[in-house]
Amino acid sequence: MNLPTNPTAQAVDSVLIYIFGFSLILLLGITVVTLYFVIKYRRSKYPEPTSEVHGNFWLETVWTVLPTIIVLTMFWYGWTNYLGLRNVPEGAMEIKATARMWSWQFEYPDGRKERKLYVPVGTPIKITMTSVDVLHSFFVPAFRIKRDTVPGMESRVWFEATEPGSYDIFCAEYCGVGHADMMTSVEALSVADYAAWLKPAAEVTAAPPKLEGRQLLEEYGCLGCHSEDGSQLVGPSFKGIGQRKVRIDRDGTDELIKVDRDYLIRAIKEPSADIVEDYPPIMPAGDYLSDEEIDAIVEHLLKQ
Ligand code: CUA
Repeated sequence: MNLPTNPTAQAVDSVLIYIFGFSLILLLGITVVTLYFVIKYRRSKYPEPTSEVHGNFWLETVWTVLPTIIVLTMFWYGWTNYLGLRNVPEGAMEIKATARMWSWQFEYPDGRKERKLYVPVGTPIKITMTSVDVLHSFFVPAFRIKRDTVPGMESRVWFEATEPGSYDIFCAEYCGVGHADMMTSVEALSVADYAAWLKPAAEVTAAPPKLEGRQLLEEYGCLGCHSEDGSQLVGPSFKGIGQRKVRIDRDGTDELIKVDRDYLIRAIKEPSADIVEDYPPIMPAGDYLSDEEIDAIVEHLLKQ
């Protein structure tokens, strides 16, 4: 078994092994002694009690004090390591995480937004996170970190990758039909790779980029529910959406309408208004999108 080398995983694992180790020793010890007495003093051999003991000061003192000390060391060890998980080290790089139904978005100090969490190896990373809709939970098993994201509140967690690689991120709080789709990853890059990854962003910030519809779909996690290749996900596919007619339920009557600009804008801003038949009314409203972003998305969709 390869134990992880990153600091947060080591903090959690060492306490787990410590407590589990003591528990295992006690379990085995008590079981062995119990079995020994059960066999040795069985009734067929000793039908009557062989001695009468009313107390033993030293024995009782030892079995009271010793477990107390053991339990207190478990508390102390757990508490100090917990503080290590809570207190972000100096010089940590801060990345903002936003959870929404049903995707993660990571925002870098330079304004760059990504669906995967790219980090350099050897630098502590502080994640400041919130949710725009319901409770989600940011869970990275490889770093042994898990923290809820709460609407209207900021929570934080830190970790440091010590080896380059890809580490799973899950949502660990049931948040609706797309909960299982809230999977992404920490991409830990070597310092050189990270610098190379960072470079294009510096060029982009020099001239404000034209909003690109396809990229926005990706950033806001739309593609988690709407496929681009016609395959069936939670919501209707984007393939051919600009040339499609959809059947909607309006005031209890079916209506066949052409997908146009107005319909798409309405579908983003008030997704529960004109729902395409046979789909559940579960899309969260895109009221956090700017008008420019909606324009770019609609323009892109109409060309599909
Ligand atoms: Cu987000 Cu489960």
